[in-house]
Amino acid sequence: MKNYRILFATLLFLGASLGSSAADGKATWDEHCAKCHGADAKGDTKMGKKLKIADLSDAKVQAGFTDEDAAKAIKEGKADKNGKVVMKAIEGLSDDDIKAVIAHLRTLKQ
Ligand code: HEC
Repeated sequence: MKNYRILFATLLFLGASLGSSAADGKATWDEHCAKCHGADAKGDTKMGKKLKIADLSDAKVQAGFTDEDAAKAIKEGKADKNGKVVMKAIEGLSDDDIKAVIAHLRTLKQ
């Protein structure tokens, strides 16, 4: 009986760790965002320079958008002041992925 309990606890633990890797903010950032914004969010990439991306690691820039603004940019894309789409909506991310990737972006703040 006792062994079953240990087995159950192990399964629960495994389930929890698998669950958290499903919404890995850093992995999502590296896969979907880094090509423009850079791994460190400074926008120091070829695409970043072309699009004149702001330094998203800058605390002042981060203060300029809320988590809701960021989620909206990810879901709907972002246009510049002339209405030209500069960041396309990122497809295939769940709400949990979006939450996790924004949380990851907040950790890059300097
Ligand atoms: C095609 C290049 C590209 C990709 C890919 C991209 N972005 Fe962007 N992103 C931009 C551009 C361009 C802007 C707006 C201009 C700027 O930052 O100065 C922007 C703006 C933002 C903003 C600021 C939103 C606001 O309201 O001010 C956030 C937050 C953001 N991106 C997060 C992300 C995240 C998270 C991902 C990945 C899921 C991502 N971006 C992928 C190009 C990109």
